[in-house]
Amino acid sequence: MSAAAIQLDPRRISGEISPLVYSGFTEHMGRCIYDGIFEPNNSNGLVDENGFRTDVLQALKDCNTAAVRWPGGNFVQSYRWEDGVGPKESRPARLELAWLGVETNAFGTDEFMAWCDKLGAEPFICLNMGTGTLESALHWLEYMNGTQPTYWAEMRKKNGHPEPYKVKYIALGNEVWGPWQVGQATAEDYAKAARQWGKALKLVDPTIKLVSCGKEGTDNWDRIVLEECIDIIDYHSLHLYTRGPEHEVNAISPALAQKGIEITRSYIDLAMMHPDRRAACAGKAKPGICFDEWNVWNPDIAPGVSGAEQEYTMSDALAVAAYLNVFIRTNTEIACLAQSVNVISPLMTSPTGLLKQPTFFPLQLFATYMRGKNLSIYVDTPKYEGTMGSDRPWVKDICADSLGWIDATAALDGNTLNIAIINRHPQEAFEVELNLAGSRKVVGEMEVHELHHENLMAVNTWEDSEQVVPTKSSAPFTGSYTAKAGSLSVVRLNLSNENMS
Ligand code: AHR
Repeated sequence: MSAAAIQLDPRRISGEISPLVYSGFTEHMGRCIYDGIFEPNNSNGLVDENGFRTDVLQALKDCNTAAVRWPGGNFVQSYRWEDGVGPKESRPARLELAWLGVETNAFGTDEFMAWCDKLGAEPFICLNMGTGTLESALHWLEYMNGTQPTYWAEMRKKNGHPEPYKVKYIALGNEVWGPWQVGQATAEDYAKAARQWGKALKLVDPTIKLVSCGKEGTDNWDRIVLEECIDIIDYHSLHLYTRGPEHEVNAISPALAQKGIEITRSYIDLAMMHPDRRAACAGKAKPGICFDEWNVWNPDIAPGVSGAEQEYTMSDALAVAAYLNVFIRTNTEIACLAQSVNVISPLMTSPTGLLKQPTFFPLQLFATYMRGKNLSIYVDTPKYEGTMGSDRPWVKDICADSLGWIDATAALDGNTLNIAIINRHPQEAFEVELNLAGSRKVVGEMEVHELHHENLMAVNTWEDSEQVVPTKSSAPFTGSYTAKAGSLSVVRLNLSNENMS
């Protein structure tokens, strides 16, 4: 057995874990919206009066889904929101240019708002900066949030929604840098447009929070956009999809998300100090990170135009857990798993049921237990020494600090210390010392939620849906924890009160 150690000090608080890191993303792509969250013709009793899948809603509630981004993704870059409101029979079907399908517009703004309301999640709207105009975006915002007796706010009322939706989070386009995008632009052109859009949108509703379109955080695109828009935005968006080819690379690659966040935070500081922006930034809150698309995705086996229905493994569950550890460790403000159902998702639907893939369980465990205060911990662990495959070979060099076999974060929630421990090693168990500094003591037993399977390639199928599921156990706390090879554990310790030593 190998050895590692985690130094924990409940007094060393590095931030508050944002509940918004447990957010989702629904795009008009494959079976995410239609036959995913919305299936009005389901005849098996699985939908409510709106045609919303109740099993999907419940699973997303179990993950404390805090906000949901919509309607894309690449889809939004040619989306006409006006087509998706009003009487269903007059909504036009349109060619859909991102995934080359037909958009019926049966699910539009009012349906999305009703769905978010059922879920208890904040709606997060991404604007069309491809074929869309600023005027149309202003109208959309007025439709959603308008309180005055104006044309679009009145239209919302006429459509049966007297109260404004108070949408808070608004993103300025999606992956506008991508050659696959309708309306691709250079960083300079995008940034100039985003600045003008942002200023105008805040005239319609000054309470909104604007998200600028970013890349992976490690790119000049991010630097240029931040320099131009720093004083008008509230968050900068990042996207990252990682994959194998083998388990080690799969489970280690999310380290790049951390690097992207760190570099972006520096770009933000740099932009705020820029001579042309410094005065406008004075006294303004520093923009945060909005990691609004992240996941494991192999488009070679699950291509976007075929609906991206990827089968996820135990190894992928560890990669998902590694992403979540990154978001906690870096005090990320918002993170949205791409996507919420069927499309590169932990949840798969059929007309008769719901399948939870192995990647569902890290989300559920983190969203349930990794809340409260983020502790600044130190992890002493042997590191992965191999290469990083052909996708991003440089990860090995630039993320050298983040390649530990044991990857961990800790959260203090009231008097409970929750420690998320991933053992990414495919063969070796680790005896992990849990060294607690300060006067507080562990009270009672250690509770453990463990996700593990002997076979890192294990999957859940419709025929055998419980191959990879978490187990719960309790044991006396001895000062260390045995993390099995290829496992995620959330170790829960109750601590004595601060002033009782
Ligand atoms: O989530 C699938 C796609 O991945 C999104 O539409 C796009 O933004 C990204 O490239």
